[in-house]
Amino acid sequence: MRELERDIVHTPTERAPIVIVGRGRVGASLATAFGQAGLPVRLTSTAAAAERSAGATAVLLCVPDAEIASTAAALAPRPPKLVGHVSGAGALAALDSTTRAGAGAFSIHPLQTFADGSTPVAGIPCAIAGSDEAAESFAEALARDVGMRPFAVPDERRAAYHAAASIASNFLVALKESAAGLLEAAGVEDGRELLAPLVLRTAANWAEHGVGALTGPIARGDAETVERHRAALAELAPELLPIYEALAARTAALARSSPSGGDSAALALASQSAAPGRRRTDTAPAESKGGGGGMRIVHTKRELREALAGHRREGKRIGLVPTMGAFHEGHLSLMRAARAGCDLVVVSLFVNPSQFGPGEDLATYPRDESRDTELAEREGVDLLWIPSVDEMYPDGFGTAVEVDEALTGILDGAADQRGPEHFRGVTTVVAKLFNCVQPDAAFFGRKDAQQAVVIERMARDLDFPVEVIALPTVRDPDGLAMSSRNVYLDESDRESALALSRALRAAERAAANGERSADVIVSTAINELRSAGVNPEYVEARDARDLSPVADLNGRPVLLAVAARVGRARLIDNVVITNQADSPEQMEAF
Ligand code: PAJ
Repeated sequence: MRELERDIVHTPTERAPIVIVGRGRVGASLATAFGQAGLPVRLTSTAAAAERSAGATAVLLCVPDAEIASTAAALAPRPPKLVGHVSGAGALAALDSTTRAGAGAFSIHPLQTFADGSTPVAGIPCAIAGSDEAAESFAEALARDVGMRPFAVPDERRAAYHAAASIASNFLVALKESAAGLLEAAGVEDGRELLAPLVLRTAANWAEHGVGALTGPIARGDAETVERHRAALAELAPELLPIYEALAARTAALARSSPSGGDSAALALASQSAAPGRRRTDTAPAESKGGGGGMRIVHTKRELREALAGHRREGKRIGLVPTMGAFHEGHLSLMRAARAGCDLVVVSLFVNPSQFGPGEDLATYPRDESRDTELAEREGVDLLWIPSVDEMYPDGFGTAVEVDEALTGILDGAADQRGPEHFRGVTTVVAKLFNCVQPDAAFFGRKDAQQAVVIERMARDLDFPVEVIALPTVRDPDGLAMSSRNVYLDESDRESALALSRALRAAERAAANGERSADVIVSTAINELRSAGVNPEYVEARDARDLSPVADLNGRPVLLAVAARVGRARLIDNVVITNQADSPEQMEAF
């Protein structure tokens, strides 16, 4: 929708009037504006349109969308040279009857709400269209004459243009009313008055800074607060939860894409604690968005392709959640996010041998397909893909996808840890999953922060047309990060395992209290681990976006990652430190 720059070739200065049909708010406001601009104008009712339009330069129909065609038809027997409308969504086709009778068709749609019949239009952007160059020029000149800023919208994109306007205007009102209602439910009166300054300031910030105006817990990656929001909504206004989830997903995606990157390493929308799984059959969104019917299980690539083909043709947004099964709330949080943000949710369940090293737990990795199936179905998953090893790695398979060792040869990929071969196994299988499913979005957990960064890089470098979405770590109430491998822990192991999250919290606290040295932060975590008798395999502070080493906290998100063996399990955990005291980039919360 470009703003028009070209020279005006026709100005509506003839003496014959411009007739405005419809005495509503838009008609009256435009009539006033035309008059003030010195244009000859006549305002008339729909009933008198035909009679009063005779000899007019142009007739502008300021009537409800549903009445445009019939009002134009009444003009068709004696059409003026030009007939226009002010509909936002309506195409020029609504004026077919006068066009067939030889009139040019045009439209002007001031991109503004009209509160009354004397709303000023100067300075307002105005969408224009014309059935030919003369009609478009006329519309453009008309808009300019009253000080509006004309821009062209292709006729076939009219509905999209109008949807954008509705989102920007009507939905904002619906949102504000929802917020005020929530305040009322929380016992705070005068919500509109209290919220108005925040609303106006936010709108002004957005006008100036775009996505940079985002603040708040989701942009900050504060999953704990987001989870408290959810609990409050569930209690006081459960009807707002679907809106909250959908906008949380959108907010996180936007913050990630902002030039400052938001605190992209930790953008939050996953739940920290387990909301009980939604039943597909009792949630309208899952029913209406999904493929219809229950969850389908497929095994072969061919079955998968066939199951997806129709949905792809219909342009559905496909979300993929890659997993190795033994589902816990971490997995389920990814499925929920996919359900909230996509039309069709595919979960892959494949214990991928190529990412396990020789001494690792491939043979004993926990598996429970029937429980997984039930849980996935409860989350409203549409398609559960469970390929066999032969299906993924047939005889003769000999290709690998490898991301630079700067990302894969450190932390878990260091030679004395799992080695870069681990990540080669991950990227190879995830590349295959991407190719087979061709998702629009794929959901990963920040519990495996390095894996998420590696996959983001692979997708970017190899041009996979997929949005890689990384969601926060889901923890048990005692702080232990959920993991399929937690089943290896006995009671006393579990007690020791809590030292990992405790150590990360201690480091976070040190940072919040003003500690800037990465070494000191790391030592704080190591001390906490050692005091619980846990000997870490590594504790490292790295840039959360590119995993480069950091010497101190410099306001950018820093990943603090830990790995430790506890009993039979090798556990990993991490935190992204964003709330750094005196951090120059720290965003203000509202
Ligand atoms: P798996 O360990 O089954 O994990 C599947 C997804 O769940 C990963 O993206 C992981 O980061 C996420 N996840 C695990 N625990 C989580 C938690 N506590 N909170 C949030 N998300 C969590 O990771 C793999 O499988 C594999 O490497 C895979 C990507 C599927 C490739 O084989």
